[in-house]
Amino acid sequence: MNHFELQGGELFCEDVPLAKIAEAVGTPVYVYSSATLERHFTVLRDALAAAGLKDPLIAFAVKANSNVAVLRTLARAGAGADVVSEGEIRRALAAGVPPDRIVFSGVGKTEAEVEFALQTGVAEINLESEPELHLVNAVAQRMGKRATVAIRVNPDVEAGGHAKISTGKAENKFGVSLAEAERLYANAANMAGVRPVGVACHIGSQITDLAPLEAAFTKMRALVERLRAEGLSVERLDLGGGLAAPYFNQPTPPEPSAYAAMIARTMEGLPGIQFAFEPGRMIAANAGVLVARVLHVNSRPEGRKFLVLDAAMNDLLRPAMYDAFHDIRPVKPREGEPVAYDVVGPICETGDTFTRDRLLPPMEAGDLVAFMTAGAYGAAMSSEYNSRLLAPEVLVKGDRFAVVRPRPTYEDMLAREQPAPWL
Ligand code: LLP
Repeated sequence: MNHFELQGGELFCEDVPLAKIAEAVGTPVYVYSSATLERHFTVLRDALAAAGLKDPLIAFAVKANSNVAVLRTLARAGAGADVVSEGEIRRALAAGVPPDRIVFSGVGKTEAEVEFALQTGVAEINLESEPELHLVNAVAQRMGKRATVAIRVNPDVEAGGHAKISTGKAENKFGVSLAEAERLYANAANMAGVRPVGVACHIGSQITDLAPLEAAFTKMRALVERLRAEGLSVERLDLGGGLAAPYFNQPTPPEPSAYAAMIARTMEGLPGIQFAFEPGRMIAANAGVLVARVLHVNSRPEGRKFLVLDAAMNDLLRPAMYDAFHDIRPVKPREGEPVAYDVVGPICETGDTFTRDRLLPPMEAGDLVAFMTAGAYGAAMSSEYNSRLLAPEVLVKGDRFAVVRPRPTYEDMLAREQPAPWL
């Protein structure tokens, strides 16, 4: 469910017409619904509670949407943060996420980032390899600290979905094998600079089937039992993110209640575990849209019609990068027979095509469209390619809206650079 609905023939975000935001802020612009963010977080939290999973840490994956106002909205609802860089730690802190609700994941943490994480006092560092264990151990000892760590395991299951976002197969770069995890955990328990408290996994994103998750979680449970049988203490189990969001005519994602029930079943009779989750997409995707304006409708003599927008692949990369499908809705749909459009941006490469032959109500230059389900991995993956300014971000709450990241100016863009002394 989301809060982008037609009211009186035009698309609203909660109680604000998207056209009003486009008028005030310009286009392209990202618009987020506070109510949808809060609702998705609450639905997941309640589903986990109803399944009997006590006090889980729900750490929102900041990479999905790193806007500080979005993070603050979720933090107020009770979310922690799953972060993968010092930048994301700083964003989480700026949003008011308590350090003891921050989990630091990621395949390649630098020494400086580890130091910053330990200074901050994050809840846990998820280690992805043996060299990283030694790095964290050394940095923590140098700082006179003992780092709370978990071992990220690669359970070697096929999560389905797009190969570029699948992470849980042995050939992927993430985590260590189950056997390796056992060895590293035992080693870590004897190191002065780290305290292993649990194991973690994350097998991929946009997962529409619970079976691969269940297969992975079953292996994780067995691992916890093996570690405990060796006399090691295991208190936490981080089950990652990955649950799909509904992208219109795509496979329907599992209900959070079914997900929670599957976990309760898989973990039944395993005492003394605090569960952690790292959802990104399922919380934020449907809570955001990208609003763009039609610059012109370019009709070719052979019949193809291009809808040229003022948004491009630099604003929303997912279609170009993953062939991702985003529903496109006119903000004020016109009457008339649907027309097949190729929807494109102004960037100088063919990849800057959002979709081909999409049936939409008839459109004219100046009309507004909304890319739905763009709240996750939308603005967060945007760039200034073609020296286009980053699209601003707007947060809506009820009948109010606020620009939470203004559109930069061209002066801002140029001020970030400086001349080389010989030029
Ligand atoms: N935890 C870890 C360790 C992750 O690597 C990820 C996502 C998440 C949690 C959150 O996963 P989610 O619940 O959002 O599925 N840019 C791609 C998605 C990349 C996902 C990377 N890792 C896209 O636009 O589809």
